[in-house]
Amino acid sequence: MRNSSLFDQAQAFLNHYYSESKELGLENRLELVQAEIERTGTYRLTTKELAFGGKLAWRNSNRCLGRLFWKTLKVRDRRSLTTVEEVFADAMEHLEFATQGGKIRSTLSVYATKEEGNCQFRILNKQLIRFAGYSLPNGELLGDPDSIEFTKYCQSLGWKGKGTNFDLLPLLIQRKEEPVQWFTIPEDKVLRVNLTHPDYPWFQELELQWYAVPVISDMRLEIGGISFPCAPFNGWYMLTEIAARNLGDVGRYNRLPVIAKKLKLNTRQVKSLWKDKALLVLQEAVLHSFQAQGVVLVDHHTASDQFLEFCKQEESKGRKVQADWAWIVPPAASSTLGVFHQEWDNQVLSPNFYYQPAAWVEVEKESKATSRVGLCPFSV
Ligand code: ARG
Repeated sequence: MRNSSLFDQAQAFLNHYYSESKELGLENRLELVQAEIERTGTYRLTTKELAFGGKLAWRNSNRCLGRLFWKTLKVRDRRSLTTVEEVFADAMEHLEFATQGGKIRSTLSVYATKEEGNCQFRILNKQLIRFAGYSLPNGELLGDPDSIEFTKYCQSLGWKGKGTNFDLLPLLIQRKEEPVQWFTIPEDKVLRVNLTHPDYPWFQELELQWYAVPVISDMRLEIGGISFPCAPFNGWYMLTEIAARNLGDVGRYNRLPVIAKKLKLNTRQVKSLWKDKALLVLQEAVLHSFQAQGVVLVDHHTASDQFLEFCKQEESKGRKVQADWAWIVPPAASSTLGVFHQEWDNQVLSPNFYYQPAAWVEVEKESKATSRVGLCPFSV
């Protein structure tokens, strides 16, 4: 029963692949896959199928505004790697390849899943590059508040941060059923952009920065019924992700109040629109700094236009775009953007990237459960 449904999913994907890629041999391939499923309970995608499936997963990502470029995704088939050390070294290659000194390349790396034998990997970090967060004894916050719990977990494994606002977290990798291992990411693999403002020299005294490449590493890729829980992928940043959310959100770096003070705005009255003004200055700084350093970043106006172009292209191919409005519409100047004035269906198509339970939370739960065995419940 289960296997016939796997075959159905394989068939749906392969139909798709052969019709869009115009390759020949669908019947033959379907027979091979069916035989493989009957023999082994599962099947392996070819490297070409994987590459096509990865691109489709991006094209089908309802929350992604950057999908115009789905065909350009570079897919690295790394299913043959068998050790955690190899996966780490390869993830560093992914970073270097994707970063390309600022000329960012959209890249997906796919690591082994259970179809490759007994080595399934997980990367425990949300992204390959992210900053640590600390809640200090005096109640102050340092770094990225969104990383506080994960940072504590890294510390419990023996990692020590420098204690700055922008400490690189270590990369945590696990081979199924084995202990988690952590690795220090070499600084030279990480392109950082220090923020300055074209008109306000004081801006650099705020000592703000962000990294160039967001590589999502905790989502599960699914193609033709096969799951890849370790498949990090990246595009380039859109301005508002960094300026409006990461550095601006109250629950993240919360830097609008200091910027407003420097601008001498009246922060006691929301009606002074100090948040709106500070947000604009922060956006100018991010845009200017990335440009000055030659790092690709798209502003929300261009990204909105590109998405509408994507919709046009899809419609011309007879495909209906699926999109999640609340994620598609950027969080600044929303009503000035074309995407604000559109609606889409929001059905989830396959292949796609899916959320999965955070691996480090699971691992931590298990280790707490085992370390308590035999202990008096009041001693822990
Ligand atoms: N919003 C996330 C961040 O700020 C990154 C999500 C992916 N973004 C992208 N442009 N590919 O880190």
